[in-house]
Amino acid sequence: MHIAPQKYFLVGIVFSVFQPLASCQELSASVTSASIDLLDASHILHFLDVVDAFGHVSLRNPVNSSQFLMTFAIAPAQATSQSIVTYEIENATTIGLTFNSSVVGAAVPTGFAERFIHSEIYKKFPNVLAVLHSHTQEILPFANQASVPLVAEMHTAPSIGSEGAPIFDIRTLPKSVLPDDQIHDLLIRNEALGDALAQTFIGDSQVVLMRGHGMAVRASSLREVVFSGFYIKQDATVQLQSILLGGGKKPKALDQREVTDTATTAKTLVGRAWSLWAQQVDNAGLYVNDLRNGAPPSPTGF
Ligand SMILES: *[C@@H]1O[C@H](CO)[C@@H](O)[C@H](O)[C@H]1NC(C)=O
Ligand SMILES: *[C@@H]1O[C@H](CO)[C@@H](O)[C@H](O)[C@H]1NC(C)=O
Ligand SMILES: *[C@@H]1O[C@H](CO)[C@@H](O)[C@H](O)[C@H]1NC(C)=O
Repeated sequence: MHIAPQKYFLVGIVFSVFQPLASCQELSASVTSASIDLLDASHILHFLDVVDAFGHVSLRNPVNSSQFLMTFAIAPAQATSQSIVTYEIENATTIGLTFNSSVVGAAVPTGFAERFIHSEIYKKFPNVLAVLHSHTQEILPFANQASVPLVAEMHTAPSIGSEGAPIFDIRTLPKSVLPDDQIHDLLIRNEALGDALAQTFIGDSQVVLMRGHGMAVRASSLREVVFSGFYIKQDATVQLQSILLGGGKKPKALDQREVTDTATTAKTLVGRAWSLWAQQVDNAGLYVNDLRNGAPPSPTGF
């Protein structure tokens, strides 16, 4: 009577050992390297206090530009390889777990409600390879106070752009995008809202502030989107302090030339920061990057 279940149990072990191996062999080396950086990005953003229990970062699939990689709905600090999902850019639907082909369809845990932030930004900007959404507290005063735009106050934050950060406010949306009978909880829950957010980006600004909510950041690489997210946060603090120090007087911001040139320089600084941040998350005792297992991060990233 007890023999049959034991047999099934053994068959189960054999399958669970061999299926992941088989699916790993099918994965390209670049998807694995990109996912190493995606886990590091999630952990670093938490370590640097850019995201908390909420927020998410993604990258365009390096082997298929119609797809992106992001975790399912989990706190970024807790992401492991088994939380990474491959999504369609076309409609933000799930293709499957990136590192476990035995989990398919409804068995894949639910994604972030706001994954449309990512899919619509990738759709609108073919050169964007990474997207971050966060509720970073330091930037919220500027998201709520349209009369004082967030500007680039420091050479590590040129991603804010030379015209300041635009603000996305659901109250300005037409009823066709946000009908009265649809929930007004500020979340980007569908393609129409994601598209409206993506259209808010202007000129050389890589960030959109979201009134009462947070921000969305776009970049041409994953490591850059983390770098930008962190320094946008620092910049908001510096700007607020400068305004207070000057008794409300508008502080000097980087001009167009300075934004362009510091953006070029910032790209050369990302690798050095990444090396430090990866070591910090390795030593923190909270984060598990089971694809890197304590090895140093690659000198070149995604
Ligand atoms: C790339 O992704 C799209 C959307 O998921 C899919 O239809 C297409 O078959 C993929 N291309 C390759 C070469 O796998
Ligand atoms: C989502 O888009 C993909 C790629 O275009 C398509 O194959 C799939 O059927 C779509 N899914 C839904 C639910 O619309
Ligand atoms: C893949 O998912 C199955 C089903 O949840 C699980 O039993 C297995 O441990 C997973 N594989 C890995 C490598 O985690």
